[in-house]
Amino acid sequence: MFSEFEIVPATRDMLPDILALEEACFSSPWTRKMLEGELTSNHFAHFLVARHQQESATKAEPTIIGYHCFWIVFEELRLMNLAVRESMRRRGVGGALATEALRLGLARAATRAVLEVRVSNDPARSLYTRLGFAQISRRSRYYTNPIEDAVLMELNPLVISRGRQQDRNVASGGESASPHRL
Ligand SMILES: CC(C)(COP(=O)(O)OP(=O)(O)OC[C@H]1O[C@@H](n2cnc3c(N)ncnc32)[C@H](O)[C@@H]1OP(=O)(O)O)[C@@H](O)C(=O)NCCC(=O)NCCS
Repeated sequence: MFSEFEIVPATRDMLPDILALEEACFSSPWTRKMLEGELTSNHFAHFLVARHQQESATKAEPTIIGYHCFWIVFEELRLMNLAVRESMRRRGVGGALATEALRLGLARAATRAVLEVRVSNDPARSLYTRLGFAQISRRSRYYTNPIEDAVLMELNPLVISRGRQQDRNVASGGESASPHRL
């Protein structure tokens, strides 16, 4: 039914869909209040969603298929929450959302990117490794529910890998959107 997606800045009216995705994807999900705080009151935070370009006529499926919240704090880009609807994974959505964060970070003069990820989260670790991140340390029992170590990963210097440079499909930062094929 859908064959393309676009990445756009999140807006308040998207919060219910974002919250539903958050709750489906994480064992300790952010609450609506936390998500709303990132969206409206944290001036370091950036919030993007991936959505189908055309809505279904019946609206049988939610429009939002992924989202990414990240912070740009002076020279540091910090990837916070990244999630893609389970049925839409392995089609490049997560990679596109993460790449857009790197692009925005570079545009704002960030020089390195960091993130934490559960040690058991092979899909996310492999996505970040593919983007050039490397493990720099491990934080013992960092996560709860279940308790688990975090791997701290860094991309330093902040660069966009060659295969991703053409991947421009985002309607953020004043740029016009072009579709990204699923
Ligand atoms: C991690 C996540 C965001 C990846 O999203 P996605 O849209 O499936 O990612 P992409 O399709 O862009 O994958 C890009 C690359 O990442 C790696 N990757 C992604 N999922 C993978 C998996 N299940 N197993 C192995 N490698 C995987 C692959 O290298 C993949 O490239 P390929 O498909 O060409 O082999 C998604 O699995 C998710 O939402 N997980 C639950 C929430 C979560 O854990 N978020 C991260 C918190 S740090």
